[in-house]
Amino acid sequence: MSMLRKRITLGALSFSLCAGISSAVFAQSLGSPISESQLRGFDLIAPPDGSGYPEGGGTAIQGKVIFESRCSACHGMEGEGTSAATRLVGGDMQSEERPIRTVGSYWPHASTLFDYVQRAMPADAPKSLSSSEVYQVIAYILNMNGIIEASLVLNRDSLQQVQMPNKDGFIDSSQAL
Ligand code: HEC
Repeated sequence: MSMLRKRITLGALSFSLCAGISSAVFAQSLGSPISESQLRGFDLIAPPDGSGYPEGGGTAIQGKVIFESRCSACHGMEGEGTSAATRLVGGDMQSEERPIRTVGSYWPHASTLFDYVQRAMPADAPKSLSSSEVYQVIAYILNMNGIIEASLVLNRDSLQQVQMPNKDGFIDSSQAL
């Protein structure tokens, strides 16, 4: 074995020893319970019953500005999408052709829209929007779909009142058998 190879092998060995030690230290710290407030900061806890949604709010008029700067590159200026997966507006679940599923035509609950955007969008910087910005930008998506007025202040209360066009379009398959 050349000197250089020996050094590399030794280097790799000491690296893996260090990695072994640090993962042992890490393993010891596993298991400490996470507090409710830590968990809330890490992820949104908002069950479908409407509890747990954060404070804040705003209108589609405010959301348009956010949409155009943070979302339109992938979703189009009017939510028309840049691919089938990124279309947010329009669509039809009743058509005889293959139905076009969008937030407007397909999603049964507006609360899911809040949860999804807060958690996963914008795709290039997830969780970078404040809660109010999320309310505003989803208000704009709902408004582009003709579901709410541009002046409606969307917040934790009004969000639960939004009626989605496809709300009755799903069956509870757990009851089907
Ligand atoms: C870098 C590209 C990109 C940006 C920027 C982006 N998105 Fe998305 N978004 C996507 C992609 C890709 C999907 C489809 C993901 C999938 O199907 O798994 C998606 C899906 C969605 C969906 C779900 C659509 C559906 O019917 O399943 C919503 C709602 C959404 N984005 C909202 C937003 C909002 C609001 C913003 C701005 C705050 C935003 N996105 C910014 C790429 C992007």
